[in-house]
Amino acid sequence: MEFPVKTGAPARQRTACAVVPVFEGKPLAGPAREIDFACGGLLKQLLRSGDASAKPGRCLLVPQLQGAGAARALLVGCGKPADFDAKRFRAASITAARMLKEAGLGEAISYLAVAAPAELDAYYAARLTVEATRAACYQFDELKSSGVEKLKLSKLGIGILDKQALRDTRSGIKDGQAIANGVHLARDLGNRPPNICTPTHLAREARALARKHPNLSVSVLDEREIKRLKMGALLSVTQGAKEPARLIVLRYQGAGARQAPIALCGKGITFDTGGISLKPPPKMDEMKFDMCGAAGVIGTMAAIGELQPRINVVAVVPACENMPSDRATRPGDIVKSMSGQTVEILNTDAEGRLILCDAITYAQRFKPRSIIDVATLTGACVIAVGNVYTGLFSNDDDLADGLLAAGRRSLDPAWRLPADEEYGETLKSNFADFANAGSREGGASIAANFLSRFVGDTPWAHLDIAGVAWKTSAEKGATGRIVPLLTDFLLNP
Ligand code: BES
Ligand code: MN
Ligand code: ZN
Repeated sequence: MEFPVKTGAPARQRTACAVVPVFEGKPLAGPAREIDFACGGLLKQLLRSGDASAKPGRCLLVPQLQGAGAARALLVGCGKPADFDAKRFRAASITAARMLKEAGLGEAISYLAVAAPAELDAYYAARLTVEATRAACYQFDELKSSGVEKLKLSKLGIGILDKQALRDTRSGIKDGQAIANGVHLARDLGNRPPNICTPTHLAREARALARKHPNLSVSVLDEREIKRLKMGALLSVTQGAKEPARLIVLRYQGAGARQAPIALCGKGITFDTGGISLKPPPKMDEMKFDMCGAAGVIGTMAAIGELQPRINVVAVVPACENMPSDRATRPGDIVKSMSGQTVEILNTDAEGRLILCDAITYAQRFKPRSIIDVATLTGACVIAVGNVYTGLFSNDDDLADGLLAAGRRSLDPAWRLPADEEYGETLKSNFADFANAGSREGGASIAANFLSRFVGDTPWAHLDIAGVAWKTSAEKGATGRIVPLLTDFLLNP
């Protein structure tokens, strides 16, 4: 989809549809007022009669406009001006995009950014418009053999009145497109079924990505090489599966070789049955989403590859299945991680931390300035913060604050939770250095504490996306969450 900037007079701009914001208890202003004037006060009438509403979430498509350059107007309810914040702004963009999509329009011009709340500058107003519109138009239909309606909307003009805002608007659109592309890729990878989206598939996608962007290179390690690296923790998870494991390493080189990279690690369990500690059947299909950390990291690399910032990033993605079988790891087995630390596997369903701990150890090779891991790691994190916030755990306040701020700016928010050493108490083992699972209480922090034992002194953050990576029931599907936060962070490290 294209997003050209439109600086012309709203009343005269030719378009199939002008998208205009309307507010409760406030007379029409800006583009809405100009278009209303051109069509003889029709919009005002519709609001007065109650056919149109300025309540948030409401919107009305007005056909057959006479007198304005636009053939139609889409009145988007934005609520009370005082309550119109960045989240409401994004919601309005989503409502508008859905309506344009449903109406089967090929093109429109949106004037929502003109009324953006004060907390959004021209850059973020444009960026969020692009991200929201692209997300609202996303559909996963590659496996549907019939009944698919193709998206007609191919162009959304972004109308601005202030020419001073031109540069920032353009830059917001550019970054928004790259982030939307990354989110799109992450959602596709997450949504693909586990018989297609295997570790080999993830590796193939990473290779395709590296071919697309100049500063991006990839290496894929197979099981022989993983064994040579002595990644006993990762190997213990994959050993019950026929499907071969992969360690995917994507490197983005946007700065000199001497600049330390930021390392990203993404959990890539392409299906999590729980292993011998088998999960109960209800909703087990959703464990195909257990690679959404990997998808988020790969999606972020796609966005970065497109935007070419002057930084270095290395992504380490351990990918495998967690299956029960006669060769699978048993509860009680003790394995040696790449770090040399031994782990008693008390619960084979606590597998994410096992593949991540070896990925984190491997990432240290690149002497990173920080390590950020992303994982659908614990059900406990979903209990703690639901599906609103990503759980953030860190050993470094500056890194944590940077990530929290990036999450706020990109409306992909994270909430910091503790990972202090006290949370390691229940990981004590009589037989190995420590166990992979502790008590149920504080499970998300215990998992973070487990990972912290592999980061040494490197500034590290762990993002638990178990609650936000996908939606359930009618809207079931991957969200691509964490790509906006991570990309924003990497653009402002
Ligand atoms: N992938 C799951 C976590 C998960 C569960 C994410 C449900 C989203 C929804 C992870 O591998 C897991 O099974 N974690 C266990 C850990 C426990 C055994 C210590 C959990 O959270 O129950
Ligand atoms: Mn599990
Ligand atoms: Zn898992």
